[in-house]
Amino acid sequence: MSRVAIVTGGTRGIGEAISIMLKEKGYQVAANYGGNDERAQEFSKRTGIPVYKWDVSDYKACEEGVAKVKEDLGPVEILVNNAGITRDGTLHRMDQESWQKVIDTDLGSCFNMCRAVIEDMRAAKFGRVVNIGSINGQAGQYGQVNYAAAKSGIHGFTKAMAQEGAAQGITVNAIAPGYIDTDMVAAVPPQVLEKIVAKIPVGRLGKASEIARGVCFLVADDGGFITGSTLSINGGQHMY
Ligand code: CAA
Repeated sequence: MSRVAIVTGGTRGIGEAISIMLKEKGYQVAANYGGNDERAQEFSKRTGIPVYKWDVSDYKACEEGVAKVKEDLGPVEILVNNAGITRDGTLHRMDQESWQKVIDTDLGSCFNMCRAVIEDMRAAKFGRVVNIGSINGQAGQYGQVNYAAAKSGIHGFTKAMAQEGAAQGITVNAIAPGYIDTDMVAAVPPQVLEKIVAKIPVGRLGKASEIARGVCFLVADDGGFITGSTLSINGGQHMY
C-alpha cells in the first residue's frame, strides 16, 4: 500500500501543488481545507484527491480530522503542515485578534497536527513531517510581526521535533518559501510587491510547483538522513 499523506490547506495555492505532486508520485493524499467549500469540491473533482474540512487552529478538530483520514485511508505517515494565513499590518495598528489568529493558525496548527499523528508515526517507526515556514520567518518583514513570529516559531518547532523523532525513523524538516505566485501574495499591494520582486535575483515570483518539488524530495523513503533542516526556496532573495 502506498503511504498516506495529509496536506493541510491542501486545496489551494502552494498546498494544492503539493497535494497534486504527491498524488502523482503515488502517495494516497488527503487534502485538508478550512473554509472554501466550492474551491475544495472543484479541486477534488478535478484531481480525484479526497478533501477533508476542519480548522487546523482547533486542537480537537485536528484530532477528529486525522482520525477520519485514518479510518478512510490508513495511518498517516506523511504530514505537510502548509495551512497558513496572513493578517498584515504594522504593529502600531494591529489588533490582538490579528495577532492571535495568525499565531493559532500558522503555528498552533503545527502542534495540533503533529500531536494528532505522532503516536502512529512512533508506532510505525516511520514518519515524514514537512512544515511550511517562510522567508519572512527567517528575515522578518515590514507589516508582519504576527506572521514572522509564527513562521519563525515553525523553524524552532521543526528542529526540536526533529531531535525527538530522529531515533524513531521520523524526519521533520521545514521549507521556507519566498514570494510564490499565489492568492496570498496577490493580496500584497502592487506597489509593495513590485519592490519585493525587484529584490529577487531570479527576477520573478516562484511557482507553487517549485515548493511541491521540495516537499517530494523531503518526504521520500530514502530521505531518512535529512532531518531538522530548512530548505529555502526563494529565488535567491535571502541567503544566509
Ligand atoms: N520597508 C520599509 N517601509 C515600508 C515597507 C517596507 N517593506 N512597506 C511599506 N513601507 C512604508 C511605506 O513606504 C509608507 O511610508 P510613507 O508613508 O513614508 O510613504 C509606510 O510604510 C506605510 O505604507 P503603506 O501605505 O503600505 O501602509 P499601510 O498601513 O496601508 O499598509 C502594510 C502597511 C499592510 C504592511 C502594507 O505595506 C503591506 O501589505 N505590505 C506587504 C507585507 C508583505 O510583504 N506581506 C507578505 C504577504 S505574502 C506572505 O506572507 C507569503 C510569504 O510567506 C512570503
